[in-house]
Amino acid sequence: MSELTLEALIAAVPKAELHLHIEGSLEPEQMFALARRNRIEIPFASVEQVRAAYSFSRLQDFLDIYFAGAAVLQEAEDFQDLAEAYFARAAADNVRNAEIFFDPQTHTDRGIPLATVMQGLLAAMDGARERHGITSGLILCFLRHLDEESAFATLRAAEPWFDRLLGVGLDSSELGHPPSKFARVFARAGEMGLKRVAHAGEEGPPEYVYEALDLLHIDRIDHGNRALEDKGLVRRLAASGMTLTVCPLSNLKLCVVKDIAAHPLPAMLEAGLAVTVNSDDPAYFGGYVNDNFRALAAAGLIGRAEILTLARNSFTGSFMSAAEQAPHLAAIAALAGGSEAA
Ligand code: ADE
Ligand code: ZN
Repeated sequence: MSELTLEALIAAVPKAELHLHIEGSLEPEQMFALARRNRIEIPFASVEQVRAAYSFSRLQDFLDIYFAGAAVLQEAEDFQDLAEAYFARAAADNVRNAEIFFDPQTHTDRGIPLATVMQGLLAAMDGARERHGITSGLILCFLRHLDEESAFATLRAAEPWFDRLLGVGLDSSELGHPPSKFARVFARAGEMGLKRVAHAGEEGPPEYVYEALDLLHIDRIDHGNRALEDKGLVRRLAASGMTLTVCPLSNLKLCVVKDIAAHPLPAMLEAGLAVTVNSDDPAYFGGYVNDNFRALAAAGLIGRAEILTLARNSFTGSFMSAAEQAPHLAAIAALAGGSEAA
């Protein structure tokens, strides 16, 4: 079969997105439109001013703006519009399955009922299946800067929708909020049959990755960059086939890496880690999933074989059943053609 250019291969290869905060897909234009529709004051005069504010030197700088932006989300229709806009962009990037994070406490703490959030997101997910053929699931994230009791209350409030949740996650300010703080909530979620994932090793030390493994019993790790500082930990992650949801443009924007050319993704692959590429908060970090692939390719960090591996990992690391993964893996194998032996 004729070789596609890297650009064409990135566009053509089916992929699953495993690390996407739906609140982080709120584009400035939509923020303004929803602020107007809901008569909410936002601290920006124009879309240009919003974009200019997206200059961060660490995770907390971003989180302050991200939580403020979410205030425009009021009605179920707003959550639906937000998720529909994401799905349209994901479809354009040939995302076939999306496992989407959402932060209930960001909304319930300002008086928005969880039912409003769920109604909007679930409507968009049902629509995405019909309109784009994209399958999706929700991962309920606990805000780690809040306390254990608030996380327990959130888990209890979500019980009516457990059959529509893939699992639980842990996000927000990492430093000073180790996974151990949520060991009991994660144990309860596990008893309820939910999958478990956690942000760890984005800014936090390797010890937080150990805690996520040993105390939260995670099924997948979000980011995980700083695991590379501990060779024994890397060996353990590789040997267990633990999937890492890596977010290169996020890492660049939040100064986890100085330069995209210095991104550790090649070292992660070299170490045998099950790496995937994801967009995290695409409206804030300058790109959706294919933009992340293109940035890595432009920096010479990935080529044809790595693009195929990363796409394959995105399905095998997803929470889809083997039968659900199979057609996508077959499509990737077909794209790989004769050179698939690698
Ligand atoms: N919430 C949204 N994006 C996040 C990230 N990259 N790290 C932690 N919490 C987040
Ligand atoms: Zn994230």
